[in-house]
Amino acid sequence: MSAQIIDGKAIAAEVRRSVREQVELLNESGIQPCLAVMLVGENPASRVYVGMKQRAADEVGMRTIDKRLPPQATQDEILAILDEWNADPGVHGILVQLPLPAQVDERTVMERIRPEKDVDGFHPINVGRMTSGDREAFRPCTPAGVQVMLEHIGFDPAGKHAVIVGRSNIVGRPMAAILSQKGPCANATVTMAHSRTADLGAITRQAELLVVAVGRPESVTADMVSEGTVVIDVGVNRVDDPSAPKGYRLVGDVAFDEVAEKASWITPVPGGVGPMTIAMLLSNTATAADRLAGA
Ligand code: GUN
Repeated sequence: MSAQIIDGKAIAAEVRRSVREQVELLNESGIQPCLAVMLVGENPASRVYVGMKQRAADEVGMRTIDKRLPPQATQDEILAILDEWNADPGVHGILVQLPLPAQVDERTVMERIRPEKDVDGFHPINVGRMTSGDREAFRPCTPAGVQVMLEHIGFDPAGKHAVIVGRSNIVGRPMAAILSQKGPCANATVTMAHSRTADLGAITRQAELLVVAVGRPESVTADMVSEGTVVIDVGVNRVDDPSAPKGYRLVGDVAFDEVAEKASWITPVPGGVGPMTIAMLLSNTATAADRLAGA
């Protein structure tokens, strides 16, 4: 089998079009959705991601606030800004780009964001609501985007064995919660594998849906995948490539060429899950604005 490609760029463009319509409707009621973004430090990848998020928000007609703090910023400085944004009725969505510098406690920062403005879905209130089956709670953008991709290709996970490789709070864990929920495009039987899983291949070969988010370039190989599996690659890794114009290229956590020979559907890197993450952030922000306006 040679896999069909899941075009994350095209699906994300559709999501963004529908967010733009939501924004226009809100504008008619005098509301301009606003996303406030904080970046602490100089992490080059984070700078790229934050820039992309802001540009995407601009493009759908949202206002953005761009707060950059130096790497030595204190936790108190960060919390004071979050308190301002929490209290400001003109701010609807708040995002603090992770990772944060070592002197700052990520959990304390995440817990300070008002759950109603937590468009990343990382506040424990939203995590708790989502894992206990509340489909209205803000969902972390990457796994929410994966679910939209599955809907788009007409793959119903109900009753299927979904194997998730990776247990991060940003992807693996919420992905397991979303896929095992009751409701449309869910109801899967979920296995979560991770760095301590024994004989990973024996587990991944059972997958009808395989979601990989481990941050290890091309570590899922063809021998670990069964024929016909739907493969979602969340990884984005830079690998040296002297023949590439920038001296590196981006690869996923899945060895794309060989796994595509066995999978039924597969996401490319880049152009797969990445664009969906940003589209879902915009969608969560529009939802936050709508809910706060009606509150
Ligand atoms: N770092 C990597 N992914 C994310 C994300 O989705 N949100 C935030 N805030 N930080 C991240």
